[in-house]
Amino acid sequence: MRIRGIEIAYEAVGEGLPVVLLHGYPFNRSMWREQAEALSTNFRFITPDLRGHGESGEAATATMPDMAEDIAALLDELHIERSVICGLSMGGYVALAFYQLFPARVRALVLADTKAQADTQEAREVREQQALTALREGMEPIADAMLPKLLAPETFDEQPETVARVREMILSTKPAGAAAAQRGMAAREDRTEMLSRIEVPTLILVGSEDAITPPALSAEMQRGIHGSRLQLINGAGHVSNLERPAEFTGALKSFLSEL
Ligand code: MLT
Repeated sequence: MRIRGIEIAYEAVGEGLPVVLLHGYPFNRSMWREQAEALSTNFRFITPDLRGHGESGEAATATMPDMAEDIAALLDELHIERSVICGLSMGGYVALAFYQLFPARVRALVLADTKAQADTQEAREVREQQALTALREGMEPIADAMLPKLLAPETFDEQPETVARVREMILSTKPAGAAAAQRGMAAREDRTEMLSRIEVPTLILVGSEDAITPPALSAEMQRGIHGSRLQLINGAGHVSNLERPAEFTGALKSFLSEL
């Protein structure tokens, strides 16, 4: 669909309460396949490729509010006023930006392997280096640098197909899209103050071995969001829905079923 001047690729499957699944960086909507397949008899899943990722087009900027506005415009086109917004990692940053911009359009939030804090100056500099590397050398060095941090040691030992799938997703991301997203994440606001204003049911999920957004940051978010629930996905790293799909899907299903 052409939205705000960009082609946004998405899939819509299932019937029932609309649930938007927002992927992380530098991934694409295919990361949600297991969840959408398992639960589409009960819920309607909308899985977009965020701008610059997957089959969506690129834009000069890719801030978290840019991406949140894309999602709102996509939902307008689909005549969906209110939905559950679920995001993993960068998708979680977009989910928080979406709540800030459009609180009345959020039925509930699922924040997976993400955090509310902005970047430190050092983290911003690392992102700029990664953006330049992606633009100059492509995604291969990005995949090499990120993979060891993304997945739990057990995933490397026991699930070579998951390692290959994550690597493939990274390599298929367009360097310009990845660079814009890195710069967008570097520019993101601190949203810790906003947490106390979240008034919708919120589920927080995090891999017990997540080295990028460790469980302590999820616990902080849980304390900040009134009535929210935190569930650890044991044995998973940062990409918890792919590393432990059954546990992630089960937690998502019971949360969504209670809404
Ligand atoms: C992600 O998985 O979306 C990114 O690793 C998040 C980040 O770089 O902060």
